[in-house]
Amino acid sequence: MNRLAPSILSADFSRLGEEVRTIEEAGAQVIHVDVMDGHFVPNISYGATVMKSLLGKTSLPFDVHLMIEEPDRYIRDFVTENTEIITVHQEACVHLHRTLQLIKSCGVKAGVSLNPATHLSTLEYVFEDLDYVLIMSVNPGFGGQKFIPSALEKTKTLSEMKARRNPDLIIAIDGGITLENVKEAVDAGANLIVAGSSVFGAPDIPRRVKDFLSVISV
Ligand code: DX5
Ligand code: ZN
Repeated sequence: MNRLAPSILSADFSRLGEEVRTIEEAGAQVIHVDVMDGHFVPNISYGATVMKSLLGKTSLPFDVHLMIEEPDRYIRDFVTENTEIITVHQEACVHLHRTLQLIKSCGVKAGVSLNPATHLSTLEYVFEDLDYVLIMSVNPGFGGQKFIPSALEKTKTLSEMKARRNPDLIIAIDGGITLENVKEAVDAGANLIVAGSSVFGAPDIPRRVKDFLSVISV
């Protein structure tokens, strides 16, 4: 089943609990949590404290996207009863294999994210260890950017690798996803769809969630 993961980066932080309740009631299946450190990416978002403020307020699983340097230092802070996936950036990990084992040892799914310019071949020797790959379809750091089309080709190639070598792999796509391009992302093989501004910036958020679900549900 394909799932929609609205990114709370584009939510109204002054009413975060309500925003999350709105998307949950509308049928979104996952909450995408964008953590930025101002070093790996040129922006600072929020950390584990903000994410943990949602505990007990939602039953949705957290998809934690760490856009930070030295992620090993912080991974444990993001392990909660709601945490399904913790994703690190390939470009931020000197010892990626070790980092993936650390995430798994915390009892959550281990993910790697690739920037638009990073080749899938960087995952060659850890491919069977992966639970999740997040294809960035914008350069990470900000919501509301324009979709980079080469992400579709990358997603297709990744789904071929998945079919041969790791059939349970979750393939996520993140950045610039709209109602107009989401079908192409699903057709390319993405089964977890991250969308920030196109969900939380919509005039009618529940309607927008339902529209996304009707396109991605297969
Ligand atoms: C970008 C983040 C994304 C972002 C997506 O660095 O990783 O998750 O919130 O926002 P939109 O959907 O607005 O591009
Ligand atoms: Zn993200």
